[in-house]
Amino acid sequence: MIAPAMNNGMWKAPATQANMATLREHDVHVVGPGSGYLACGDVDTGRMSEPEDIVEAVCEVLNPVQQDLAGKRIVITAGPTHEPIDPVRFIGNRSSGKMGIALAGEAARRGAVVTLVLGPTSLDVPRGVECVHVQTASEMLKAALSAFQTADAAVCAAAVADYTPAAPADHKLKKANERLDRIELVETVDILAELSRQKGDRLVIGFAAETDNVVEYAERKLTRKGCDAIIANDVSRADSGFGTDTNKAWIVSIAGTQELPVLTKPQLADTILDLLQNL
Ligand code: CTP
Repeated sequence: MIAPAMNNGMWKAPATQANMATLREHDVHVVGPGSGYLACGDVDTGRMSEPEDIVEAVCEVLNPVQQDLAGKRIVITAGPTHEPIDPVRFIGNRSSGKMGIALAGEAARRGAVVTLVLGPTSLDVPRGVECVHVQTASEMLKAALSAFQTADAAVCAAAVADYTPAAPADHKLKKANERLDRIELVETVDILAELSRQKGDRLVIGFAAETDNVVEYAERKLTRKGCDAIIANDVSRADSGFGTDTNKAWIVSIAGTQELPVLTKPQLADTILDLLQNL
């Protein structure tokens, strides 16, 4: 396996490209190069791939993942949304985006064409995933609906704000002479319910973040939102929910309720993708 790193002129030179073609013919695997700042100061193609990507590519060669979702198009929403009050303040929530990002990464590894509609987060987008970055619930709705037009399935893992300020200010509100103690809110569109309404015979899976009556509330959400399954999370536990690396979840569908053990988010992602396959 080769991870080339060189000046862009050298990389694009016909001799280099011909040599790379010869290496590929001999089943040598190539990772990258990426684009960005090069050692010489140019910004172009030729940058060594990130070490994490090289490790992942090596793992894929040594232990290939079954491409059971090849050809399937999946839309995944992830992360929180930020609803602006004014240019410096927003209403948000504690979602890190980890669960949806894990889903996107695992789905791509299993061969799916993934569009990740991602709210504000500092986490990286997995390799091979097309990402649409959004800030607000209404931007997330627009991007998810657009990607869903040509998709086979959607998984809504985002923690979408339920309410947004009715009239965000275009300047920073001053507490001395403007109202900051009462912000009028309007309800956002439920993206999961809207995708479920449009789904036809396609599949839509949602999440439920609950602190109590986890399964009962999830069952109600399944009916109210009209999706195929709800992954119910107990976000009151230290090992589950926002920002953690593991989740304690239940799969709630019309087929019944299945309790899952505490799983890492990538393991839970794989279980959810298995569910999609079975459905
Ligand atoms: N969801 C969505 N759009 C919204 C609100 C929620 O797509 N405007 C989706 C979430 O992505 C998740 C599911 O609906 O898949 C449930 O989200 P949750 O916050 O648990 O439930 P709510 O519908 O907001 O209900 P409540 O806050 O009363 O629990």
